[in-house]
Amino acid sequence: MKILVLNGPNLNMLGIREPGIYGSSTYDDLIDKITDHCSEIGVYVECKQSNHEGDLVDYIQQAYYDKVDGIVINPGAYTHTSVALLDAFKAVSIPVVEVHISKVNEREEFRQISYVSYVAQKKITGKGFDGYIEAIDLLAGKS
Ligand code: DQA
Repeated sequence: MKILVLNGPNLNMLGIREPGIYGSSTYDDLIDKITDHCSEIGVYVECKQSNHEGDLVDYIQQAYYDKVDGIVINPGAYTHTSVALLDAFKAVSIPVVEVHISKVNEREEFRQISYVSYVAQKKITGKGFDGYIEAIDLLAGKS
């Protein structure tokens, strides 16, 4: 079982950006939590982050050739704007779970649309870093 965890723009700034919303733990803390959990449940995981939409499209396309079984994505602000990410997921037909650290549904109007939601098996919001673990367990059939 091979899972790819993708994080979009500004998620490398976790711990620094708006701690009242995203918490004080860093991106490295997130990756440690994910890799520890995946080694416990015996899942191979790769984690990637980019601030650039095209890079994220490239990672999704590459996942097809790498025979990735599932993708967890927090697309950051591209959640609300990116038809390109949606089309990439449609192209590769890999199961995807969408994660948001914050309670996006309780935030601004412009955050209420999510293009990735059109293809995501599930959208997990407002659970902090635990949302990524829940998403991995779902894709790995451990929940
Ligand atoms: C986010 C929510 C988005 O609206 C925002 O642009 C982000 C992070 C979250 O994890 O809560 O960058 O995806």
